[in-house]
Amino acid sequence: MSTLFLIILSILSSLVPLSFAGNVRVNNPCRSYCGNITIDYPFALQYGCGHPGFRDLLFCMNDVLMFHISSGSYRVLEIDYAYQSVTIHEPHLSTCDTLVLGGKGNGFAVEQWRSPYFNPTADNVFMLIGCSAQSSLFQGFPGKHLPCRNVSGMGCEEYYGCPAWSLAGRGQMGSMFGSGPPECCAVAFEAIRAINLSKLDCEGYSSAYSLAPLRVDGPSEWSFGIRVKYSVQGNEEFCRACEATGGTCGYGSNGIRQLCMCGDMNSTSNCDSVTSATDRRRGPGFVTVLTAISFSILAWIW
Ligand SMILES: *[C@@H]1O[C@H](CO)[C@@H](O)[C@H](O)[C@H]1NC(C)=O
Ligand SMILES: *[C@@H]1O[C@H](CO)[C@@H](O)[C@H](O)[C@H]1NC(C)=O
Ligand SMILES: *[C@@H]1O[C@H](CO)[C@@H](O)[C@H](O)[C@H]1NC(C)=O
Ligand SMILES: *[C@@H]1O[C@H](CO)[C@@H](O)[C@H](O)[C@H]1NC(C)=O
Repeated sequence: MSTLFLIILSILSSLVPLSFAGNVRVNNPCRSYCGNITIDYPFALQYGCGHPGFRDLLFCMNDVLMFHISSGSYRVLEIDYAYQSVTIHEPHLSTCDTLVLGGKGNGFAVEQWRSPYFNPTADNVFMLIGCSAQSSLFQGFPGKHLPCRNVSGMGCEEYYGCPAWSLAGRGQMGSMFGSGPPECCAVAFEAIRAINLSKLDCEGYSSAYSLAPLRVDGPSEWSFGIRVKYSVQGNEEFCRACEATGGTCGYGSNGIRQLCMCGDMNSTSNCDSVTSATDRRRGPGFVTVLTAISFSILAWIW
């Protein structure tokens, strides 16, 4: 008798998770990994997945996640979904150990249509290196170099203390103290909106951020890379509603309109509007029937 009961119970318990599968889709067809980085909304690797503002942005090559915008390609070091930031790096970005000159660096600039979605964080400092006296950076601010400033306690005075500068030697870059512009000029992204080395007539650049809540003790504790804040521009509702009804967020083939993917159907709102009387309604009803059967078996046994 008790063996039969256990058999029935195990059959029932194996059926219950199946009945839930229609409600909470276990398999999100858009979520993926590249190396150890999780790629989830608004990002995606497949066209049609994620938010349209983030389309054609990430590429995974040999487990290395690449971020591609108009200024160039960068390696993604981290995506922080809680703080909505992505940290990127590229080989021509000067660090505390190496200065990369020759104007080869990407800097940071995004396509006009994409710019609402990305902004380097307010506490990310860009340090422009070896800019010519004719650079637009120094025009209109004679003798004062006004755009150069410290950003979140990080700036060139401290950057000069890095090993990279003792190797290169300050004052070797063609600009003499007192006459020319400073060899390094630190700016916040908002000040110039595009870090374009050829446009700014600079030899190189560095970018750093600090995750420490308090002022850190010098550049050896800075993190080098570009920390970018991303945002879906107040458009969170669509995806939240889609996911709450078991869907996966994506966009249509025009690359503009958001879509909610509901199994073999796509909805322009959420999955409640396409699966009215089928999948989702059956789920809870089925569970109720199972519960009723279990209770009648229990009643019958006792
Ligand atoms: C991912 O792997 C890299 C090395 O391949 C490591 O430095 C990094 O800390 C890892 N990140 C996470 C979130 O595990
Ligand atoms: C739903 O949209 C996605 C992304 O655009 C597309 O790949 C898929 O084929 C569409 N499915 C249907 C059933 O139209
Ligand atoms: C950078 O500036 C140069 C010269 O003004 C321009 O040709 C180029 O398109 C700009 N790059 C980006 C990514 O905006
Ligand atoms: C930046 O801070 C350093 C010391 O922390 C200071 O010496 C320097 O004058 C500051 N630079 C600017 C441009 O304010």
